[in-house]
Amino acid sequence: MILTSNSYAKVNIGLRVLGRRADGYHDLDTFFHLISLHDKITMTLAEDWKTRVSISGSEAYLPAGRTDLMEKAAVLFSAMSGKSFSLHIDIKKNIPSQAGLGGGSSNAAAVLKLLNEAFSFPLGPQQLLDGALRLGSDVPFFVTGFFCAHASGRGERLSERQAVSLPALIVRPHGGAVSTAEGFRKLDERAFVPSPLPAWTADAQEWMELYPNDFDLIQPVLERKDYLDAVSGSLYHSTTGSGACQVVVCRDEAERDRIESGLRKKESHFDVMRTYLLKDFATGVIFD
Ligand code: C5P
Repeated sequence: MILTSNSYAKVNIGLRVLGRRADGYHDLDTFFHLISLHDKITMTLAEDWKTRVSISGSEAYLPAGRTDLMEKAAVLFSAMSGKSFSLHIDIKKNIPSQAGLGGGSSNAAAVLKLLNEAFSFPLGPQQLLDGALRLGSDVPFFVTGFFCAHASGRGERLSERQAVSLPALIVRPHGGAVSTAEGFRKLDERAFVPSPLPAWTADAQEWMELYPNDFDLIQPVLERKDYLDAVSGSLYHSTTGSGACQVVVCRDEAERDRIESGLRKKESHFDVMRTYLLKDFATGVIFD
């Protein structure tokens, strides 16, 4: 059986780190928003007496010596559901890793959901969310199917919010990859006053004022005048997740084109990708 899925990235609109917990994780307050940037996953599945998983991909994105989160998702699904199978996953990667875009988490969620569907839903919605959280703090959001959600706790307490459809840019500073754990550690060294985010508004004109990201504190790109000049005037610009990518939300395509060409003059410092905040799968351009 062949199964396919697009695996979409997210951005964070605001992210407050409220404090370090006894288990080493941090309590967060954030809004997740799906974007059109996505990977393509193709799974070849056959029932087998023993679960085996193999992965191929268009990019050497896999950190050496580590098990891919998609493989962990498949093995976890097998353990939770009691199903065994042989599975080959082929992935066309577009979402950069260690970027704050949730690429690995989205891929893992896609594998869980596809397997659950293929085996006629042995895991109920709550079991699926519990499994997702075992894989990572961002994975539950991608399992919900929400386009926009408020998240608290580690990221697993989720409630849907009104999504918007707006053009955006993802800016990846060169040499800026930061692991999530390292980002949190760097933030722990800073003295800052945690405070929760205000309630959600879908009016993006208000976002700059309302929804800061605490990880802005540790992003060298935000000390660059050429970057800040290029993105000034956008509706919203901020670090996404723990970075290092920045999300720049624009009023319309003309504004996005203007900001993009300003950034492209500094191409030696950043990669720039066009995307959309997704309200549904019918609007926005889906990039292949
Ligand atoms: O949950 P996930 O495996 O994606 O998290 C990676 C690392 O990020 C954790 O090991 C932890 O150091 C940090 N983290 C955190 N608090 C969160 C989410 C992640 O401290 N809510």
